[in-house]
Amino acid sequence: MDNQLIEKQEEVEEVLESSLPVEDKELKDPYCDADNPVQVKFEDISAAAYKIKGGVQHTPCTKSQMSQLFGMDMYFKKEFLQFTGSFKERGARYTLLALTKEQKKKGVIAASAGNHALALAYHGNNLGISVTVVMPIVAPIMKVSACRNHGAKVIVHGKDISESKDYAMHMSRDQDLIYINGYDHPNILAGQGTMGLEIIEQVPDLDACVIPVGGGGLIAGTALAIKSLHPKVTIIGVEIERCASFTAALEAGKPVYTTTSSSIADGLAVPTVGVNAFFTARHLIDKMVVVQEESIALAILRLIELEKAVVEGAGAVGLAAIMQGLLPELAGKKVVVALCGGNIDTTALGRVIERGLAADGRLVRFIVTVSDRPGGIAELAKVISDLGVSIKDIFHERAWLKSDIFSVQVKCVVETRDQAHSKELEDALRSQYKKVIMGLDYF
Ligand SMILES: Cc1ncc(COP(=O)(O)O)c(C=O)c1O
Repeated sequence: MDNQLIEKQEEVEEVLESSLPVEDKELKDPYCDADNPVQVKFEDISAAAYKIKGGVQHTPCTKSQMSQLFGMDMYFKKEFLQFTGSFKERGARYTLLALTKEQKKKGVIAASAGNHALALAYHGNNLGISVTVVMPIVAPIMKVSACRNHGAKVIVHGKDISESKDYAMHMSRDQDLIYINGYDHPNILAGQGTMGLEIIEQVPDLDACVIPVGGGGLIAGTALAIKSLHPKVTIIGVEIERCASFTAALEAGKPVYTTTSSSIADGLAVPTVGVNAFFTARHLIDKMVVVQEESIALAILRLIELEKAVVEGAGAVGLAAIMQGLLPELAGKKVVVALCGGNIDTTALGRVIERGLAADGRLVRFIVTVSDRPGGIAELAKVISDLGVSIKDIFHERAWLKSDIFSVQVKCVVETRDQAHSKELEDALRSQYKKVIMGLDYF
């Protein structure tokens, strides 16, 4: 176990000592009641816009460098430029502002692995409201520290977000704190909807808006704002293949539990979408699509290279859907893609960039068997360098080769300009050597 994990485990144990009773494990959130879902109204969003004005950024929505590349008039709504790096500030600030005087005095609690926790911590501090956040042990250490730096009381508890939520619900009951669900509290939905109001103002005559979907709060608010004013705008939701819980809810007619697995877009891994979000959004969404991990990595890479924007996985799925060819109907249209968060760990970013380069065919692995005579490897290096390909890693082995003892197997990772360049390299290797294995899966 590394030091960070040990630290977190100790914190978890600390918390477990004062553990809560196991009875009535599933406490209900009165603001998110499956038997009485709340459908948020347009007036709620206007009220939120009025209240949060000046407290959150009016982020730019500018035409993308990639418009021509994808054959559409593409605009990016840059929510990653919010102070804590995501749109979650909109709902968090409005919900805090809408509390009664007494509730403000008592404080609030939430369970979140990242962006909602950061947004609440920051705005709670700003408004003088005490905030407690329960984060799962898998929450990035950077986000845990940032919440503490913003003055929140942080409890690291639970192996996943549902365990953190259970714990937070018990604390909310025992300490009389208001629990704020980050994707389903009605005021959260209204706050997120203010992004839609800004989009309409910033991009007149838009044809479509592409929105990432986790628990469904962002799409519910944004779709309501846009469709109320411009019913003909197409609303497209994007989920991750590893957790298509909104698609499952649409099929079932109500939120249902969906299994999830870890994803580059961790913010979207919500196994059951919000009831209020679902019943507000379901008639307003024209199409839902699911994206693969590889496309998300590629989208993050393109945003860095072409747009100079650092966007986290959850924030990049809209572009990933376009790059994956899931939205051909948008060709020639005026489209807004929400880039709704930029909180990506530096270490994760490094890995994602490598994945993106591999998915793009620019980071290539191969094995080639060459002569073990002097100059054998130099000859291979020359074939590679003559093509302007750069060697990132090179490794050779003799002992386990079953064939000719005068041969050596060389494993290489190289960087090329693009897929065509990689193909050129493959052709050159195959014309020079008998045994060449190209591909990702042989190591
Ligand atoms: C960056 C980012 N984008 C999109 C979403 C999805 O929002 P929602 O859960 O309201 O659907 C999240 C959720 O945490 C997020 O962090």
